[in-house]
Amino acid sequence: MGTTVVQPASRIEGRLQIPGDKSVSHRYALLAAISDGPSTITNYAPGADCASTLDCLAALGVAVDRPAHGADRGRVRIEGRGIDGFTAPGTPLDAGNSGTTVRLLAGVLAGQQLTTTLVGDASLSRRPMGRVIEPLTRMGARLEGVDDRLPLTITGAPLTGIEYAPPMASAQVKSAVLLAGLQARGRTTVRERQPTRDHTERALAMFGVQLSIDGSEISLDGGQRPVGAEVSVPGDASSAACWAVAAAALPGSEVSLDGVGLNPGRIGFLAALERAGAAIAVENRMDEGGEPRGTLVVRHGGVGRVEITAEDVPSLIDELPILAALATHGGGLRVTGASELRHKESDRIAALAAGLRALGGQLEELEDGFEVDGSRPLTGGRADAAGDHRLAMAFALAALGAGAQSEITNAEAVDISYPGFFDILRNLSQS
Ligand code: S3P
Repeated sequence: MGTTVVQPASRIEGRLQIPGDKSVSHRYALLAAISDGPSTITNYAPGADCASTLDCLAALGVAVDRPAHGADRGRVRIEGRGIDGFTAPGTPLDAGNSGTTVRLLAGVLAGQQLTTTLVGDASLSRRPMGRVIEPLTRMGARLEGVDDRLPLTITGAPLTGIEYAPPMASAQVKSAVLLAGLQARGRTTVRERQPTRDHTERALAMFGVQLSIDGSEISLDGGQRPVGAEVSVPGDASSAACWAVAAAALPGSEVSLDGVGLNPGRIGFLAALERAGAAIAVENRMDEGGEPRGTLVVRHGGVGRVEITAEDVPSLIDELPILAALATHGGGLRVTGASELRHKESDRIAALAAGLRALGGQLEELEDGFEVDGSRPLTGGRADAAGDHRLAMAFALAALGAGAQSEITNAEAVDISYPGFFDILRNLSQS
């Protein structure tokens, strides 16, 4: 497949329901699988990454029911196998493009009496796994990668709780250690240097696990058995952010986005949009159900220059490409302290620079970030999403402000987190 054409738009307008959150869906599925009893997850994320998690769980002997069509679409029923009930898969577990699947599943598999091998696509096979190998090995499991990359073979073992301070701000590493800690002897503590999304902590509580949170320290006692639950996934803040950025970018725009997850660890983009000039309101806020959610109303209000530094980064790490897209609409953006971007589905600094330049943009790469000069409108052109879903969406949002139509190659990558993205973009766009 391939190339998608994006037409410039003068403004966007509309109201839409945001599909389920990718990060939260992975966690609910994994916890449901190791729980006692059945679980039902509603509004499960529709993208390929969360399907990869369900495929891996099914290969581990977990009964997963996921209607693909009709009224029950997005409702996943999982028969929990209990904390140590997986069966050995006959073949490697394929995590596709999904880093969260590999890293969180590694934490779960570390304590299982099984040997499993995790593989993934070309992008995932380039991503660093040493960050989970190191703490899980310290807990007692055997993990062997190829130069700390996939394929990753995990031989589970009786684990011992540890105190761990991840060297990088990573919710995936924190989550892997906590999930392993559930199966460990004694107490496991993760001490974060910078707060990251706390979906795992909230999800553990939803499945009946007790944990204590003291500032930047999260601890849990091993030996607890999660219990199956009925949970509902909030709309994906990262998907909502696309339309928020488009509305912020184009004069006269307004969008209302319903059911959006408002976890504080995810919505740093809202503050960045406000700093750029957008007007944002939150309506119908709901705090029940483990994850806060509500309707986001975003209106254009000018596009000013924004600075983002290390302390802002964890709460908007996945939105940096689309914030770069916003900056091409006239504002400008300087990002530092974001070297983690080089380890995402692509080297997101290099591939973002290449793509925005191909559309006529001006972007200077920094070792740990980038600077966008938005003073000249884009000309339009042909940008390569490099197999990275967040870049495909960022290039599309940038292209809305170009002088001519643009083409995005490898644009099908949006299916990783947001199938239907381009149809919605066409529906919202006003010429
Ligand atoms: C995620 C954490 C972040 C984020 C990724 C999803 C998660 O990665 O970029 O898209 O679900 O925990 P890191 O843990 O590598 O920062």
